[in-house]
Amino acid sequence: MRNATGVKRAAAAPARALWIDGRLRRGDEAALSLFDRGARDGEGLFETLRVDGGRPRFWTRHIERLVLSAAVLGFPVPPSPARLRDGIAELLDEGDMADAVVRITVTRGIPGGRPTRTGVWIDAEPVAGRLWRGTRGGAASVIVSKRPFEPGPLGAHKTTSRLAYHLAREEARAARADEALLVSGARLVLEGAASNVFAVIADQVVTPPLSLGILPGITRAVVLGACRAAGLHARERRLTRADLDQADEIFLTGSVQEVVAVGTLDGRARPRGPVAPRLLEAYRAEAARSLG
Ligand SMILES: Cc1ncc(COP(=O)(O)O)c(C=O)c1O
Repeated sequence: MRNATGVKRAAAAPARALWIDGRLRRGDEAALSLFDRGARDGEGLFETLRVDGGRPRFWTRHIERLVLSAAVLGFPVPPSPARLRDGIAELLDEGDMADAVVRITVTRGIPGGRPTRTGVWIDAEPVAGRLWRGTRGGAASVIVSKRPFEPGPLGAHKTTSRLAYHLAREEARAARADEALLVSGARLVLEGAASNVFAVIADQVVTPPLSLGILPGITRAVVLGACRAAGLHARERRLTRADLDQADEIFLTGSVQEVVAVGTLDGRARPRGPVAPRLLEAYRAEAARSLG
């Protein structure tokens, strides 16, 4: 949908079309059965990815994460990648979008059916509406969530049980910040509410280990690979708040925001450096190569 100046804008949520199990639906028709485990109990998985010129970034990596989590967590087999690609194409075509943020959601389906079929839907939005103010301006404002966070056994999976993450995000919004960092009861920095976190300390690029149970971010993995390719020393390392306070640079990574320098942490200005912009450039080059 375009306004009078030709700028694409998002349709209001109920007017926006969703692809639901093979059909475009909108408004009251865009509905999930209340018997679906996704609706009843939050038993769902999702992937959020960017699409450039109609082609998804890091398609294979996103599908692999989705399918692997679905297998580990006892979900019905998700629809084939080809079918999901068709859904994305149909949705983008309908919304007259080439660049978009796409979300694919699958649920554990309705119990009792043999075989149980997963619930599945896709939605797409223009990228601009999803970017943080800090992403648009080049540096994010970040707070540390006051609520201790433990990822638990599901933290490594991108589940639709988002309450803990959304409460942290709301803390950020209340402080007029872009993102909240989640810190464990043992005071270890884990990840953002919708991002992974990196720091540059003593010429090393460091990020909390996946063994803490955090989400294995796709952007995180690409950035670690980009560090190696660029000859930067990068490794997993446990980080405390004090480590962040002493870091030369802090930056966040995620499929929507890409690589964003942290400009303020809890309201205090943070030094900006050369590493985050360099990795953003390398990440974008890799994203362009990955277009499926
Ligand atoms: C909790 C959490 N950590 C990290 C990320 C970043 O993951 P990715 O790079 O795969 O988008 C996200 C993305 O939404 C997230 O929700």
